[in-house]
Amino acid sequence: MSYHAPRGVNDLLPQTAQAHLWIESIAHEVFSRYGYVLIETPLFELTEVFVRGIGEATDVVGKEMFGVYSGAAAGKLVVGETLKADEQLSLRPEGTAGVARAVVEHGLVPPGSPVAKYWYAGSMFRHERPQKGRLREFHQIGAECIGAAEPSSDAEVIIMLMRFFETLGLSRDSMRLYVNSMGDATCRPAYREAVRAFILDNAESLCDECVRRAETNPLRAFDCKNPSCNTIMAAAPLITDMLCEQCAEHYATVRELLDVAGLVYEENPRLVRGLDYYTRTVFEVQVDVGLGSQNAIGGGGRYDGLIEEFGGKHTPGLGFAVGIERILLALQAQDIQAGKVPVPEVFIAAVDGKARTVAFRIALALRDAGLAVELDHQNRSLKSQFKLADKLGVSCVIVLGPDELASHTATLRYMDTGEERCVPLDTLTDILSEPIKT
Ligand code: HAM
Repeated sequence: MSYHAPRGVNDLLPQTAQAHLWIESIAHEVFSRYGYVLIETPLFELTEVFVRGIGEATDVVGKEMFGVYSGAAAGKLVVGETLKADEQLSLRPEGTAGVARAVVEHGLVPPGSPVAKYWYAGSMFRHERPQKGRLREFHQIGAECIGAAEPSSDAEVIIMLMRFFETLGLSRDSMRLYVNSMGDATCRPAYREAVRAFILDNAESLCDECVRRAETNPLRAFDCKNPSCNTIMAAAPLITDMLCEQCAEHYATVRELLDVAGLVYEENPRLVRGLDYYTRTVFEVQVDVGLGSQNAIGGGGRYDGLIEEFGGKHTPGLGFAVGIERILLALQAQDIQAGKVPVPEVFIAAVDGKARTVAFRIALALRDAGLAVELDHQNRSLKSQFKLADKLGVSCVIVLGPDELASHTATLRYMDTGEERCVPLDTLTDILSEPIKT
C-alpha cells in the first residue's frame, strides 16, 4: 500500500510552510498597529458550539463538519448508543464561534470594558468537494473585534483587511471589495419572509435546493451555483430596500467612513455570506486572476447577537477571516514571491576528525552570536563539503585543517568572489557578523 495525505488535505512542504509564516508575520505586523492581540482556541469544540454559533441550516454545519470521536465514543456509536452532548465534538470549520465561546467562558469582555481585538491563524476543516482554492483542511487568518457597536469599527476592520492585502503586495486593482448590510433582528425577519415568498412564487424556475432553502435558509438562494437560479434571484427583493432606520443609518456611516479613507468598494445587495451569525455589515474580497470560481480571498461581517448565543450579555462584535491558500494562489498569479526558505550564511568545512570537533564548537558559538551556520554531519570529504556548501548557497565557507588548528586560525573563503583570507579563530564572530549580517 502506498500512503498519501487524505483528499483535500495538503502537506505544507518547506517552501509553502515558509510562505504561510511570512503571510502570518505580515498579519501580525499590520494587525498590531490596529491593537489586535493573538488568541488561540482549540482545533475541536463541542459540536453544539458550531451549531449554535454558525447555524444549523448553513452548509458549513449541515453538511461540511468533520466529527471527532474518542475510541469510547466511536464504540458507543457502533452499538447504536447515543452520544452525550459533551461527547459530540467537531473539528472547527471556522474560528469565530470558538472565539465567541472563549470570550463568554472567560468573561473577556464584561459590559463597560474597552473593545477587545483578537487575531488568530490556523487550520480549519470543511468537508467540501476539493478543487483549486478549496480544501478540506485549509488555513485561515482571522480577526475579531468584540464590544464595538459603532460603524467606525466596521470601517476600521475593513480598512485593516485591505491594508493587509496591500502589504502582502496584492495590487489594489486586482481585488474587488464588496459590502452590504444584512439588517438586524428588527428588519431581517421581514426581508427573509419576502425572499421566501419570492422563491415560492418562482419555485418552478428554481432548482430543488433553492426551493428547499425557502423554508430553512432562503437568503442562501442568492449563492446558488446554478446560473439560471442566479438570473431568477436577480429580481428578488433587496435587503437594502428593506433595512430599518437604524440599520440604514449604520450602513450609510460605514460607507461614508470608507469614502473618507479613500477605499474603493462596490455595494452588493446580494452578498449574503454563508454563516448565520451576521447582522448588519458584511463584506467580501474577491480577486480576478489565479483562483477560478473560488475567488473569495477573505470575508467577514458584524455579528451583534453571537455572544448572547453563548449565554453572554449583549455584546456587539465583528471580524473577518482570509484563506492563506487562496492568498498564495493570488500572489502567484501576480508573480509575487511569498517568503523565502532561509539559507545558511556560513558553512564550516573540516579537513579531519580533530578539525571536526573544533568546527562543531565554532558552529555553536557563531549560532549563539546570531549567524545561520551549517556543517557536515555525513562524514563527507573536504571536496564534497565544498559542493554541499555551494548547493546550500552560503556566502562564506570556514575551512579548518591541521595548519589552521596549529596556528589557532581559520581560512575564510567567500563563495561569490573566491577570495580567501586567514583570520585568528577568536576574531571569527566579529569578522563574520560584519559583512554577512548587513
Ligand atoms: P468564510 O467566508 O467562510 O468566513 O471564510 C473566510 C475565508 O476562508 C474565505 O474567504 C476563503 O478565503 C477561505 N476559505 C473558506 N473555505 C475554504 C476552503 N474550503 N478551502 C480554502 N479556503 C477556504 C469565515 O470563516 C468567518 N469566520 C469569517 C469571519 C470572522 N466573520 C466574522 N469574523
